[in-house]
Amino acid sequence: MKFFIDSADVNEIRQANLKGWVDGVTTNPTLIAKSGRSFKEVIAEICKEVSGPVSAEVLATQSAEMIKEGLDLAKIASNVVIKIPMTEEGLIAVKKLTSEGIKTNVTLVFNPLQALLVAKAGGTMVSPFVGRLDDIGIDGLAMVEEIVHIYRQFDFATEVLVASVRSPLHIEKAALMGADIVTVPYKVMQQMTHHPLTDKGLQMFMEDWKKSGKL
Ligand code: G3P
Repeated sequence: MKFFIDSADVNEIRQANLKGWVDGVTTNPTLIAKSGRSFKEVIAEICKEVSGPVSAEVLATQSAEMIKEGLDLAKIASNVVIKIPMTEEGLIAVKKLTSEGIKTNVTLVFNPLQALLVAKAGGTMVSPFVGRLDDIGIDGLAMVEEIVHIYRQFDFATEVLVASVRSPLHIEKAALMGADIVTVPYKVMQQMTHHPLTDKGLQMFMEDWKKSGKL
């Protein structure tokens, strides 16, 4: 399973990368706006830090402009993946960019049928948003399970990138379902590291070592 970090904060990405948590990066307009920096500048800097895929989202809503923007963003670095919203116009852009050899990540996917259309259009990755479905009382992970099942059934090449991850449990369940990729905020990556029994066990070992007089 690949781990992407969902962030546009270069320092955070660097820290996560030191720990082997970064097979790729996803950004979105909200995360870029939070960074307070220029979009292209941030993407270029992230691409220098990380060799895996880095998703950069188009802002256009019409296919012709999305394609133009996508071609332009793809020039920033060879590992840029064009993130495109799940709309009819978006699918036109995905098909065209795919035919030009450019990788895409279709975002804002909320059901298995949308994911099926992404695979048909030749998208490289599909991003089902788990947390935002949970927020409205619909089981986000059940959607992921169905997408993985459908994709395996027909051997689609599109990778399932689980997004809108809010807790370690989302990651554990997505891994059990066989999702290809999970994109995780840094805070949730840190939460995954810790267990109270690990901390307690370490403290006990240190105390016993101290008692032995060897420290
Ligand atoms: O990758 C998409 C993700 O950033 C959305 O997360 O927490 O805003 O639903 P969230």
